[in-house]
Amino acid sequence: MSTPRRTTNDLRLGLLRQPATVLFGPGQRHHLARLIPAFGSRALFCTDERMAADPVYRELVAGVEDAGTKVTTYARVEPDLPRQDLEAVARAHDADEFDVVVAVGGGSVLDFAKVAAILLAHGGEVAALYGENVVPAAGLPLITLPTTGGTGAEATCISVVYDDALGMKVGIASPWLEAAATIIDPELTLTCPPSLTTATAADALTHLVEAFTARAKNPTSADIEAHLYVGKNLLADTWARQGLRLVGEAFPRMAADPNDLAARSDTMLAAFSAGLAINTAGTAAAHAIQSPIGALTRTAHGIGVGALLPYVLRFNLPTRTEELAEIADLIGVAAPGASTEATAHAAVEGIESLLATIGCPSDLAALGLRPEHVDHVADQAVLATRLTANNPREMDRDDVVRILEHAIAGDRSWWT
Ligand SMILES: [Fe+2]
Repeated sequence: MSTPRRTTNDLRLGLLRQPATVLFGPGQRHHLARLIPAFGSRALFCTDERMAADPVYRELVAGVEDAGTKVTTYARVEPDLPRQDLEAVARAHDADEFDVVVAVGGGSVLDFAKVAAILLAHGGEVAALYGENVVPAAGLPLITLPTTGGTGAEATCISVVYDDALGMKVGIASPWLEAAATIIDPELTLTCPPSLTTATAADALTHLVEAFTARAKNPTSADIEAHLYVGKNLLADTWARQGLRLVGEAFPRMAADPNDLAARSDTMLAAFSAGLAINTAGTAAAHAIQSPIGALTRTAHGIGVGALLPYVLRFNLPTRTEELAEIADLIGVAAPGASTEATAHAAVEGIESLLATIGCPSDLAALGLRPEHVDHVADQAVLATRLTANNPREMDRDDVVRILEHAIAGDRSWWT
C-alpha cells in the first residue's frame, strides 16, 4: 500500500463564523430579558415538551415577560425535526408577528429555530433551502440558549431536518442560519438526563477531534464563497485546542459527579469551542458513517459518532500522526520522551478512555449493528461526499467496510 497523502494548511488560512454576541457563564440566562429588547418586543420561543414543563424554563420566560416582552411559546419541537412541523409554524404566524426568535433546548430545538427564523421571514418550503448556501437572505434575529453540553448547535450555521418524502435527514447550511446572539448557561445542563449527557459530550469530543484532524483544503477565494466548510484552518484549530484541553479533565469530573457545576461549565465551553471549530472546518468520516447507522439502529447521533471515532482515527492515523500526537498532549495522555507515532497511538487510546468514562459504547455491536448491515451502511456513507471529502485520508467504500468490520468487532488491536 502506498503511503497515505498528508495535507497541510499551506495558505495559513483561518476562517471563523460565530454569533455576534456570545455570553457564557452560570446564571447568565437571566440576562436574556435585557438582551431581547435590542431586537424588539415580540418573541417566539421554541422549545420541547420536557423543557417547557421545567420550572427553570417557566422562570426564564416570566423574567422576559416582566421586562416587557410579549412571549409566544412553541413547545412541540420533535427530536427528528420533521419538515412539516417547520412549515406548520410558518403558516400559523404572520411574517411581521415576531421581532426575534429564541431557542431554549438541545440541538434539535436550536436547529428547528434556525430554520423557523428563515421561514417566518420569507415563507416558502423547507425543501427549497436544502444544501449549502441556498438560503436567500437573513431571517428573523435568533438567540440560542443550549441546554445540553453539547452539540455546539448554538454556534453552528447548519440545521439537519428530516424529510419523510425523501426518507432521510437533509442539511441546510448557510451563514444566514447563524444566531445573532447565544447565551450559554451551564446551569441549564444540570437537569440533562444521563443518556443525553453521554450522547452530547461524545458528540462534542468527536467535533473537536474531527475538526482538528480534518483535511486541509487550501481553498481558492471562489471555493470559500461557494462552500461553508474550508477544512482544517488556524482559527478552527485555536478553538479545537481550547476544547480538547478542557475535556481531558472535565469529562472524568462530570462522570464522577453530574452535579459538579465547574465540570459542566468546562464541558459546555468545550462543546461551544467544538461548535466554532466545525462551523468552518467541518466534520468528517465519523459523521458520514454515523448517519446511516443512526437511521438503521435508531441510536443517538452522539453515541454513534463516539463509538465510531476511535476506529476512524486508527484509519486516519498515518495522515494525521502529528495532530494526534498534539491531541495526546492536550488531553493529558502524552508520555515524556515517547516518539510522535507512539504519542499518536496514546491519543487514540486516551480518546477511547474519555469516551468510556462518559459511558459511550466502544463498539458498534452495542448499537445493534450487525455484519449483514455493513454493505448498506458503506453504500450510504460514501454518498455523504461533503463529509468524506473532509476526511484527512482518502476513503473509498472498501475503507468504510474495513472500519465498520473492526468497529463491530470492537477490535482495538487494529492499527493501519
Ligand atoms: Fe455531531
